[in-house]
Amino acid sequence: MRVLIIGSGGREHALAWKISQSPLLKKLFCAPGNPGTAQVAENVPIADTDIPGLAEFAVREKIDLTVVGPERPLTMGIVDEFESQGLRIFGPSKKAAELEGSKIFAKQFMERHRIPTARFKVAETEDQAEKILNAGVFGFPLVIKAEGLAAGKGVFICPNMKKAEETIQAIMVKRQFGEENSRVVIEEFLTGREASFIVISDGTQVQPLVTAMDHKAAWDGDKGPNTGGMGAVSPSPFITKELFMQVASSIIFPTVTRMLEEGRRFRGVLYAGLMLTDQGPKVLEFNCRFGDPETQAQLLRMESDFLELLLAAVFENVLSRKVRWSASVAGCVVLASGGYPLCYETGKPISGLDNAESVPGVQIFHAGTKVENRTLKTNGGRVLNVCAIDADLPAAMDKAYRAVSAIHFEAMHYRRDIGCEREEGE
Ligand code: AMP
Ligand code: GLY
Repeated sequence: MRVLIIGSGGREHALAWKISQSPLLKKLFCAPGNPGTAQVAENVPIADTDIPGLAEFAVREKIDLTVVGPERPLTMGIVDEFESQGLRIFGPSKKAAELEGSKIFAKQFMERHRIPTARFKVAETEDQAEKILNAGVFGFPLVIKAEGLAAGKGVFICPNMKKAEETIQAIMVKRQFGEENSRVVIEEFLTGREASFIVISDGTQVQPLVTAMDHKAAWDGDKGPNTGGMGAVSPSPFITKELFMQVASSIIFPTVTRMLEEGRRFRGVLYAGLMLTDQGPKVLEFNCRFGDPETQAQLLRMESDFLELLLAAVFENVLSRKVRWSASVAGCVVLASGGYPLCYETGKPISGLDNAESVPGVQIFHAGTKVENRTLKTNGGRVLNVCAIDADLPAAMDKAYRAVSAIHFEAMHYRRDIGCEREEGE
């Protein structure tokens, strides 16, 4: 088979690495890819949002399956466009991807179908927002979310009225996230542990991936600003068997079934970001794609053929394949540029990768890297994902951190406590 992966992060390197092991694979491309994907695929310089360019490439190269990494091309409708040209592609349609692309749609969908989530109100105008705030229904802190995709930057936890009003000004008046994203969801603040629950759906049935947990805060001890994820472990130490069944029956199955009934068949990755509250798990957000960096840890544990599984989902028979997972534990430490997720510099030479990769059980995925004058350099906020697998979490993390200590670039920043919390899990 000829396969095209779309995207250029650590998640896409992990997808490419795993797909490249499939006996079904003849040729693998990645658009636009990164120096990591170049080790296992041929990189193609087409942007992940250039849908006509990607479709033209897929037709020309007779691609049998396209796998989409990031959310943006999905919410732009890449799946609809490819399918209209008779191209096979793994991912949800534009209408289905609204579960991630429109926070208002997702919240109203959950309300319609009694899928547990934080209580909320939608404000279309500044006036409505002021009324909701003044009515005091949610108390403080409360959460304000800008409509649309905002690369993780559109969620504001407001401890008091002053911050809430400033946030409303920024989103609804100054239109910080653009004209079309000036509406907001105002919702109650939930407390508990966060967990990610990720499945592959063919539109009617689901194949759960092994559980995973990411660490979103920038600094040790879950301090500092939120990021796309500074590390991950699989399995999640907090999703017990009972909780797994509860999430499947109260959140995942109803979501897939109701989306189908609403004419928005969800075929692709359904990722529920959850808060495990005292009243049970509640949805913070849905994503319509693989997690980053959760995927890196999860795929290290997959023993069966990933490409076969993706094909089974596309052919709407996702349960026809038995997915085998290693009982071992995998961890991933993100090496970031100093200052990430705020301001950071790029173009810093990276050294020590060969030594790091020689630690047994270690796998390094590239995220924001580039090759310039034959030197590997930083090219983004999240630069490298140092992953390791071993019989238990301390052993896996020990290996990962041993590999990390071999790597250097100027102002390199990473969390030293990935995988430190532990309770009974999977
Ligand atoms: P989201 O993009 O909606 O997942 O929000 C990003 C982050 O904001 C989440 O991972 C949580 O840490 C936090 N968050 C979002 N909604 C809530 C909420 N209702 N209560 C508490 N924290 C929240
Ligand atoms: N790691 C969080 C995400 O992929 O959205």
